[in-house]
Amino acid sequence: MIEQALEALKQGKVILLYDFDNREKETDFAVLSSAVTPETIRMFRKDGGGLICTAISGESAKAFGLPFASDALQFAGDIVEKEGDVPYDRRNRSSFSLWVNHRDTYTGVTDRDRALTVTSIARYVKDFEAGAHGKFSDEFRTPGHMALLRAADGLLDQRRGQTELSVALADMAGVAPAVTICEMMADDGFALDKEGAKAYAKKHGLIFIEGQDVLDEWERRRTAA
Ligand code: 5RP
Ligand code: ZN
Ligand code: CA
Repeated sequence: MIEQALEALKQGKVILLYDFDNREKETDFAVLSSAVTPETIRMFRKDGGGLICTAISGESAKAFGLPFASDALQFAGDIVEKEGDVPYDRRNRSSFSLWVNHRDTYTGVTDRDRALTVTSIARYVKDFEAGAHGKFSDEFRTPGHMALLRAADGLLDQRRGQTELSVALADMAGVAPAVTICEMMADDGFALDKEGAKAYAKKHGLIFIEGQDVLDEWERRRTAA
């Protein structure tokens, strides 16, 4: 299943990525940011309904001057999230960085605008990986409508959210680490449960994978290296 997930991701297909039974117990849509179209954004907001975010590697975020939101907001005092505040992961802060819009967007929130922001971020990350990227502020401004997530430097060795799971998948698939994700919600006030997400995957011919599968492959490769 992990090989199929890596191949699907590489091909720009949407996959379903569940985290862990002892964490959020949520399933996110996940797709390479370079493959995002306005139709992807529409699918995510209509069939997913969570927050659409783009996860990038910690290294690229640092190069672009993108801090964690909790660091950037320190001036706000006690309201700022600290270690221990996140109920399903007391040892880590959330991965939120800044919220951005591409400068060529209008409101920033339409499917077309969000797709432009996301694919432009993907281009920056790809350029970063190749060793030459532009100045981030030349093309983006904050605040905006695309939440950026900054992966922990040690990826799954440090934090095990969909942020790190999706960036680790991109890493193992050999593609630039920019993945756009969105939680799948149900209509009963809760997140879609695992069985519901599996049923959606079956109905739409999509790969469903769990964090444990990603982690097993991550550790297998490390042992093999
Ligand atoms: C942003 C989130 C989501 O849960 C998303 O999956 C990324 O967070 P994490 O890495 O903590 O799982 O909170 O909408
Ligand atoms: Zn979350
Ligand atoms: Ca999550």
